[in-house]
Amino acid sequence: MRIYEAKDYQEMSRKAANILSAQIILKPDCVLGLATGSTPIGTYDQLVQWYEKGDLDFREVRTVNLDEYRGLDRGNDQSYYYFMHQHLFDRVNIVPENTNVPDGMEPDSEKECTRYEELIRSMGGVDIQLLGLGHNGHIGFNEPDSSFAKTTHCVDLTESTIEANKRFFASADDVPRQAYTMGIGTIMRAKKILLIVNGEAKADIVARALFGPITPEVPASVLQLHSDVVIVGDSAALAKIPRN
Ligand code: GLP
Repeated sequence: MRIYEAKDYQEMSRKAANILSAQIILKPDCVLGLATGSTPIGTYDQLVQWYEKGDLDFREVRTVNLDEYRGLDRGNDQSYYYFMHQHLFDRVNIVPENTNVPDGMEPDSEKECTRYEELIRSMGGVDIQLLGLGHNGHIGFNEPDSSFAKTTHCVDLTESTIEANKRFFASADDVPRQAYTMGIGTIMRAKKILLIVNGEAKADIVARALFGPITPEVPASVLQLHSDVVIVGDSAALAKIPRN
């Protein structure tokens, strides 16, 4: 586990974008595992800037997103499909057919989750998986649980996640109650993992996830077992990690 401390959100975003762009340059047809939420927005903005300068080329890049709300169609501005197009896909030369987000409108959850898991396998797996961190330690939408979910599955969102995500919706009642998400096993199969965290509100959960016991009650704690994890955090989010 390697931890980079950035002084603020902007520096965190640039460092994370640096790591992703290194991957794209080294392997132009790499598979990027992508994340949503407020944390990665600056990272995507930085990638777009480098693309506009001619320093990055997404023509052969393939992507798989972590998760999607169940029941939101692609045109809904709160869907993760919409988010990815708004913040990255529509701003660079990625081929739309090479981008993948779980289909939140597929009513048959087993069918969709199996399709998504097989898709990732057929692409040869994820070269680098970008992750944010939920306030309760969730990654993707893997909520605290009694066991680690192995593969892509349908989850019931916890009250704390609905509460945290209601800022994006008109009201808490509008937040979908379920989502399709890569499982912990799916995430752990990525060759590299890049976790980004910012803000003091994440400081407690960052310390618990990275230095506390490994338990499905804190889903991100499983990352301690991955052999190639990089964490990029701002000083506020890293304020409570042990210093020696
Ligand atoms: C959502 C997403 C996660 C994300 C988390 C944190 O629940 N499913 O992938 O990491 O929120 O969001 P934020 O970056 O806004 O704190």
